[in-house]
Amino acid sequence: MSLQKVTINDIIKKKKNGEKIVTITSYDYSFAKIVDDCGIDLILVGDSLSMVMLGYANTLSVTMDEMIHHTKAVSRGVSNALIVGDMPFLSYKIDTAEAVKNAGRFIQEGGAEAVKVEGGTEMCPTIKAMINADIQVMGHIGLTPQAIYEFGGFLVQGKTIEAAKKLILDAKNLEEAGVFSIVLESIPWQIAKLITSSVEVPTIGIGAGSYCDGQILVIHDMLGIFTDFKPKFLKYFSNLGESIRHALNDYKDEVINGIYPNREHSYEFPQQELNKINNWFENADICEEAHKIT
Ligand code: KIV
Repeated sequence: MSLQKVTINDIIKKKKNGEKIVTITSYDYSFAKIVDDCGIDLILVGDSLSMVMLGYANTLSVTMDEMIHHTKAVSRGVSNALIVGDMPFLSYKIDTAEAVKNAGRFIQEGGAEAVKVEGGTEMCPTIKAMINADIQVMGHIGLTPQAIYEFGGFLVQGKTIEAAKKLILDAKNLEEAGVFSIVLESIPWQIAKLITSSVEVPTIGIGAGSYCDGQILVIHDMLGIFTDFKPKFLKYFSNLGESIRHALNDYKDEVINGIYPNREHSYEFPQQELNKINNWFENADICEEAHKIT
């Protein structure tokens, strides 16, 4: 299937046309290629790779260089989906110029078409600076995992009147700053619905209910590969972890019992030369012959 590369305008148009936007994370070439073949609109190279690919306890450990390494791998596998690179912890909140440079690395080195930043109104000057440098930005509010120590864990956000108001105003300000879409993570569906109806840019939900303009999930979560914990919003669309375990146990058994590889999986020496090599093998002094070629 060869489609045209999805653009930011295509993503925005989908909201206008009332079409759902389907997005997912990916972190490597092979997965990204499968995702792309399925016609997914947007691939986020999420900092969730810190947990699902690198085994850290949260998203705070992954570095800019690691994010670029994975973004490059994803972009080698993708010809259609829009690729968004996720800016990691400390790469964009210390200094605006450094934030723009780091965002630029995702585009220039990684092959992404946009970046995602976590945070609300306080991020607007940085987002504007990125957009002034021709870098397109996706916002992310609600449970922003880089702030888990501030929240006290992976907790649902926007559950009080004040917190809900702040989320709605943050979304408005992000839109005003120029983001092309906003991820809403782990917030009550009623608040996500209000946000979605109050902004023109698409909202992409994860744990934010069905009224968002699109959805995103971490691919290792929805395929049942990463099962360390299961948030309420997560649905397993497959049990690949179990399938992989079955396959590896079968492989182990077959190798131990001499079943794999069989002739079907083996290369053949030319039949007419077989006697010659067997004769040589039986009669030659292998040590002496080996010395001759050193
Ligand atoms: O890092 C990530 O995968 C994300 C999505 C869950 C939105 O930020």
